[in-house]
Amino acid sequence: AAALGTALGSGAAQAQAAPAGTPDSLSFPPGFLWGCATASYQIEGAAREDGRGPSVWDVFSHTPGRVANGDTGDVACDSYHRYPEDIALLKALGVKAYRFSIAWPRIFPEGRGKPNQKGVDYYNRLIDGLLAAGIEPHATLFHWDLPAALPGGWQNRDTSYAFADYAGYMAGRLSDRMKHFMTVNELLCFTDLGYLTGGKAPGLKLLQKDANQVRHHGVLAHGLGVQAIRANAKAGTLVGLAENPSIYVPAIETPEHIEAAKKAMRDQNAMFLTAIMEGRYLDSYLSAQGSDAPVVKAGDMAAIGSPLDFLSINVYTGKMVRADPASPTGYAVLPMTGEAPRMPSRWLYVTPEVIYWGLRAIHELWKPKALYISENGCSADDKVSADGKVYDTDRVMYLRNYVTHLQRAAREGLPIRGYFLWSLMDNFEWEDGYTKLFGIHHVDFKTQKRTPKLSADWYRELIRVNRLV
Ligand code: NOJ
Repeated sequence: AAALGTALGSGAAQAQAAPAGTPDSLSFPPGFLWGCATASYQIEGAAREDGRGPSVWDVFSHTPGRVANGDTGDVACDSYHRYPEDIALLKALGVKAYRFSIAWPRIFPEGRGKPNQKGVDYYNRLIDGLLAAGIEPHATLFHWDLPAALPGGWQNRDTSYAFADYAGYMAGRLSDRMKHFMTVNELLCFTDLGYLTGGKAPGLKLLQKDANQVRHHGVLAHGLGVQAIRANAKAGTLVGLAENPSIYVPAIETPEHIEAAKKAMRDQNAMFLTAIMEGRYLDSYLSAQGSDAPVVKAGDMAAIGSPLDFLSINVYTGKMVRADPASPTGYAVLPMTGEAPRMPSRWLYVTPEVIYWGLRAIHELWKPKALYISENGCSADDKVSADGKVYDTDRVMYLRNYVTHLQRAAREGLPIRGYFLWSLMDNFEWEDGYTKLFGIHHVDFKTQKRTPKLSADWYRELIRVNRLV
């Protein structure tokens, strides 16, 4: 991607002149939680081992034409066997936390019923290994690998209850050793993209009315999951989710545009994050959907609005907004033009301000107790050099810019507690297979050898000094 500026300039010069310990515009708060993130289907492999049942992503990736090159997660990074190596990579980076996901079909191969102890054992080994390395485990309970045996998938309301049972069971098994649980990852991606536009598993293109019901089952699963985790986990367990709200950046930093972007954030996320944070669907969403609005049963909205201990957002890209008094909403969303800077993933426009504005709008709208970035990172134009190393200067530029805006959020006192870089290593990038790679470690998928890229060296130094580098 072209045209990546940097906001470091004058701040760096000032910091050099200041005596050690002087607060400056580059540091992060002491104890800031730097981490890396991955997800089960993208890294584990061992798709048919130790009693794991098939997930909708096994079915999808094995359906010709669905995933680039016909790639699958059958082997991926083989982390089911090589997790000690992954932990060693994390330790060498100096990260304080690791966000991974639990494969529901390893625990309940058919989605519900009798738990599979061998599946639980894998996560026990992983968690014990992380703790022994001094790394805090943060678990996502659902990162899209839905057990294929559940009839109707997310079209069926029963799936929300099956999820809650599984979430409660896992929290009960693991909360003696870890605190942070996220219910679901990125509602839009497993609802609309799976059931409306169909680019992700299970690849359906339903009518809007049916897709709206799928959305409702998604937020309901989250809410019932929160309740089940609280009912089953040890006291002190912290519950949240990893959501990817649409984020809006004020085109100009003036009060009216800032207000417009904040309003867009609330309105445009009405079916997911706003419903979760407010425990209701906005009237504007319901009236826009008309007779396509979801069927909501008594008690659903209270469950969906269950109070959270923290909120995590996955942040990659966003859109600019300007105030527009002529529009009934009061704002206008500005289109990204085709040649705007973006990374190899076609949807990934470079918009580093989204970290700051996303956190700030969420803080002002809903005041969550604690905020995390549960994912940020990018695909890049990686090439292995003659010396065997990937010098991913484009990824370093991307990350440095986004993290600069994260620092602004911290400096202004927003309750941002940590940042998880996506991803620890190259892995199965869903419908893009292995053609778009997000890792800060290169993976040779023939030998499974992991090698730090330049971006890993950059991240290690950032963590070491806890300031922009
Ligand atoms: C968000 C998803 O949670 C993750 O699984 C995916 O690989 C990254 N975005 C990059 O597309």
